[in-house]
Amino acid sequence: MSKKWQVLAERMRGTGKFMESRITPTSLMQAYQQNKSVLIEDQYEIVAYAGVWSTPDPRWLEFGAIWVSDERRGNRISSQMYVERMKLVPSGYSVCSITSSDQAAHLALKHGFVEVGRDEWFRAVPSVVSCGPCDRDIPGGYNYKLHCPYRAERRPDIGICRMFIKTF
Ligand SMILES: CC(C)(COP(=O)(O)OP(=O)(O)OC[C@H]1O[C@@H](n2cnc3c(N)ncnc32)[C@H](O)[C@@H]1OP(=O)(O)O)[C@@H](O)C(=O)NCCC(=O)NCCS
Repeated sequence: MSKKWQVLAERMRGTGKFMESRITPTSLMQAYQQNKSVLIEDQYEIVAYAGVWSTPDPRWLEFGAIWVSDERRGNRISSQMYVERMKLVPSGYSVCSITSSDQAAHLALKHGFVEVGRDEWFRAVPSVVSCGPCDRDIPGGYNYKLHCPYRAERRPDIGICRMFIKTF
């Protein structure tokens, strides 16, 4: 494997923003080889990356892992990446994007995604897409999951997550 994938994984990990399993050198490389991500390279270095992840639901994909190297930020590169990434989505698929980043939220809305309020989260998107099948015995059953207290517990370090969806 080329060293550029290890460097990319290390730099993305350094942000503390991404699921570890998605940003291993192998995951990042395979996603690109399988046409599930877009990137920008300069010489032998990857300077921007954005992924499209499969989900357990065959009708749904997820946008995630959008990253621009520190020294290139502030130049709207992520907006260009967003446009390129949308071209990877086959017609008829729905895409969700879950983020606590104000910039990523702005980009989703700018590119035609609609925000899903927390009360609608599980009506609009299958639960397996957003947080997997629930393995907790939650009082009140499924509906209570609309306000699931465990969501915040999952990633207390990243703050409030917002969800955006778009059908292509
Ligand atoms: C998020 C990230 C990819 C954006 O990189 P970038 O392309 O250099 O970002 P920009 O500064 O050009 O801003 C992107 C857009 O957000 C807007 N923006 C900037 N700050 C903002 C803020 N605080 N709130 C809302 N929108 C904001 C910009 O105006 C721009 O929109 P525009 O194209 O309509 O003008 C980059 O900061 C990064 O890699 N961060 C670390 C990883 C991360 O947090 N990824 C998102 C996790 S889901």
